[in-house]
Amino acid sequence: MKHTQKIGYAGIALAALSLSLSTLAADPVTPKFTDKLSRLLQQEMRSVQSAMASIHVSMVTGKHEQVATKAQQIHDSFILKQSLTEQDKKDLMSAVPEGFVKLDKDFHRLAAGLTEAAKSKDTQKQYKLYNEMTGSCIACHSKYVSDRFNGLGSP
Ligand code: HEC
Repeated sequence: MKHTQKIGYAGIALAALSLSLSTLAADPVTPKFTDKLSRLLQQEMRSVQSAMASIHVSMVTGKHEQVATKAQQIHDSFILKQSLTEQDKKDLMSAVPEGFVKLDKDFHRLAAGLTEAAKSKDTQKQYKLYNEMTGSCIACHSKYVSDRFNGLGSP
């Protein structure tokens, strides 16, 4: 009885320690996702990734229409706007901090900008926004997905 109690206290102390460490360093959101949210987000990320690859080649070859279509697709995939049930939305909001929501919004705003730059056939602007979007992937992954993408920590 005494013994298990001690272990219990040690467990609590450890949990408190890792909590304080995680607020100093990056605080991964992935462990807080429900299985369904994980699945949805991973799906969204894979389609974002393939859209980014196809935008890259379309952009450097001046295929503005194709850039616009794919950038629009990224914009529309906005997970917070997807047909999540009310419960999913609650689960998502309780899993992620405000900073995550802001990064997600920024990212999708950049995608909207890229769509516009493609419609006006402005290659320089597409290039700039594309780079900013890449920066956004790195910012979110290094801050909130540090458990899976641990190669992104500061050197
Ligand atoms: C606002 C945060 C955020 C932004 C911005 C973001 N990601 Fe992610 N990404 C995540 C999270 C969270 C995961 C982990 C999901 C999980 O494992 O549950 C992830 C996972 C991934 C994965 C792995 C998917 C899988 O199959 O497990 C890829 C690939 C990826 N992201 C690509 C990108 C690319 C490319 C960009 C930018 C163009 C990007 N992400 C921008 C949050 C973000």
